[in-house]
Amino acid sequence: MHIGCPKEIKPQEFRVGLTPNAAREAVNHGHQVSVETGAGAGAGFSDEDYVAAGATIVGTAPEIFEIADMVVKVKEPQPVERKMLRDGQILFTYLHLAPDPEQTKDLMESGATCIAYETVTDDRGGLPLLAPMSEVAGRLAPQVGAWTMQKANGGRGVLMGGVPGVGPARVVVIGGGVVGTHAARIAAGMGADVTVLDRSLPRLRYLDDVFGSVFKTSYASAGNTIELARAADMIVGAVLIPGAAAPKLISRAQLSELKPGAALVDVAIDQGGCFETSKATTHQDPIYDVDGIMHYCVANMPGAVARTSTIALGNATMPFMLSLADKGWRQACEDDPHLLNGLNVHAGKLTYYAVGKALGIDVISPSLALKA
Ligand SMILES: NC(=O)c1ccc[n+]([C@@H]2O[C@H](COP(=O)([O-])OP(=O)(O)OC[C@H]3O[C@@H](n4cnc5c(N)ncnc54)[C@H](O)[C@@H]3O)[C@@H](O)[C@H]2O)c1
Repeated sequence: MHIGCPKEIKPQEFRVGLTPNAAREAVNHGHQVSVETGAGAGAGFSDEDYVAAGATIVGTAPEIFEIADMVVKVKEPQPVERKMLRDGQILFTYLHLAPDPEQTKDLMESGATCIAYETVTDDRGGLPLLAPMSEVAGRLAPQVGAWTMQKANGGRGVLMGGVPGVGPARVVVIGGGVVGTHAARIAAGMGADVTVLDRSLPRLRYLDDVFGSVFKTSYASAGNTIELARAADMIVGAVLIPGAAAPKLISRAQLSELKPGAALVDVAIDQGGCFETSKATTHQDPIYDVDGIMHYCVANMPGAVARTSTIALGNATMPFMLSLADKGWRQACEDDPHLLNGLNVHAGKLTYYAVGKALGIDVISPSLALKA
C-alpha cells in the first residue's frame, strides 16, 4: 500500500501523523511511504529522518493526496484537504464529526473510507487512540498549574513542593480517569499534597489500591468538592461524561470561597469546561483572571509538547495503521471489531451511530459497510 502523510495545516498544530519510526515499520512491512517536506519539523523530525527510515519526501500536499492509498494525519482534514480526498482512499486521523456537519458532508461526498482515531476502542472499554493525549494533558496540567500559581502570572505565589518548614501546595483533581490520574501522579511527584475526587466508587477503589500512598481520594459530592476546593492552591478539572458537555462543578458565585490567586486548570475545556467561568484559551494567551482566581483553559494542551505527543500518538496508532496497510481496511476491520468501531464514513455513507444522531443523518451499520 502507498501511505501518505501530509504536513498538518490547522493553525497551531505541530504534531505529525507518522513518526520516522512508524514510517520505518511500514516500509519493513513492504509498503511505500511518502511524507510531505517539513511535515515532521514541528515535532523535531527532519526530512532526512524520514529518508533514513525509507520514506520518500514529496513537495506538496496535493501530490501526497494524489498518490496515497491511505492518508495518515493528526487533525481532521481542513476544507482544502477534504477536496483532495477521493473515492476508495483511506483516511486515518482524528475526525470529531459530531459537532462538525460541514466536514461530515464533505467526507461523505469524497467517497473515501474514513476511520476516526477517537472512536477506535479496546477490550477494556477504553479509547486507545485518545488515551495518549489524555496522558499528555494530565501530566502537563500540574506543570502549567505550577506556572500559573507563580506571583508574576497572577497566582498565589505558592511553590508546589514547599520547602523545609513550609508546607506544599494543595492540589485537588476533579475526575480520576486518565487525565486525572496522570495529573495527580505528577503533582504528587512535584511534592504537592494531592486529593483526587471522582463519582465512580470502582474508580476510587482502583486509585486507592494503586496510588493510596501517593495521593488521597474523595467521593465527588458537591459538599466534598467545595470543601476541598476552598483549601486548594490548584484545582484541575478532569471530568468526562462520554458524549455530554462537562458538568459545571464550581460556579462563579463559589469563586469567592476559593483562596485568592488559586489556579484552576480546566483540562475538560474541550467538552465545555467543568468550571462555570471557564472559556477556551490558546497557548499564546493561556490564562485569565476572574474575581482574582486564575484560569488556564487551553483546549489543545498536547500541542505544547508536540514531540512527546507525536511519539505517544504514533505508538498508539502504529499497530492499527500497519493492520490497515497490510490487510486493506475491509479485512483489517473484519478481523478487529475495535478498529471497525473507528469507521465513521464509507463510500458516501455515515457509519457511526452517535454522529448520525447528533447531525440527523441516516447511518448504515459498519458491518453492512464491510459488505458494501
Ligand atoms: N484540554 C486538552 O488538551 C485535553 C486533552 C486530553 C483530554 N482532554 C479532556 O479531559 C477530560 C478528561 O478526559 P479523560 O481521558 O481523563 O476521561 P476519563 O473518562 O478517563 O475520565 C473521566 C473521569 O471523570 C469522572 N467523572 C465524571 N463525572 C464526574 C463528576 N461529576 N465529578 C467527578 N468525577 C466525575 C469519571 O468517573 C471518570 O473517572 C475530557 O473532557 C477530555 O476530552 C482535554
